[in-house]
Amino acid sequence: MKIKIAPSILSADFGKLNEEIKSVEKYADLIHVDVMDGHFVPNITLGAPVVAKICAKIPLDVHLMIENPGNYVEDFAKAGADIITVHSEACKDLKGLLKKIRALGVKVGVSVKPKTPISAISKVLDDVDMVLIMTVEPGFGGQKFMEEMMEKVATLRKNKPKLDIEVDGGINEETAKIAVKAGANVLVAGSYIFGAKNRKKAIESLR
Ligand code: DX5
Ligand code: ZN
Repeated sequence: MKIKIAPSILSADFGKLNEEIKSVEKYADLIHVDVMDGHFVPNITLGAPVVAKICAKIPLDVHLMIENPGNYVEDFAKAGADIITVHSEACKDLKGLLKKIRALGVKVGVSVKPKTPISAISKVLDDVDMVLIMTVEPGFGGQKFMEEMMEKVATLRKNKPKLDIEVDGGINEETAKIAVKAGANVLVAGSYIFGAKNRKKAIESLR
């Protein structure tokens, strides 16, 4: 499977966001946008008005770490999201929300936090384009990769050979290899890419 790299702008300089995106978009496949509300996770980032101002030549992969995501998916679709991923833990009617996202004309993703088993999403696997397995507790960049999560990736990959499986948190040159070996094909990396002196090289080292 083709490995796709998604630099996470959480570790970029928000004061010059579009320049930061320009510095990686030629070498990457997706721009990963972390939306946090201070409720679902203990941190706040940005909302749809900021996403609408992003100029990127590659698709926007919007990761919603917010409560009541159903109230906002339309705003993010209008703002230019190409993929919208919601957390299973934040949804009362997960199947219904995934259907709503699909109807907005964007790709659909579902995510699980480290403590959530993949059985929580087993009934919706045919309704999504991508599953995001969190490899850190969501909320902050720069945390340590949780290798135990590879069991989830491997189980999913066994059952879904063609599904996009994304990993997010603690990805660097070493952990990328572990994740790909387990079956992941979409790698999010924030601090590793934006903290690198040579971002092109950093992205290439993940493939
Ligand atoms: C964490 C976010 C990640 C974060 C990853 O909640 O979902 O996308 O940016 O950061 P790194 O790659 O630094 O672990
Ligand atoms: Zn993320």
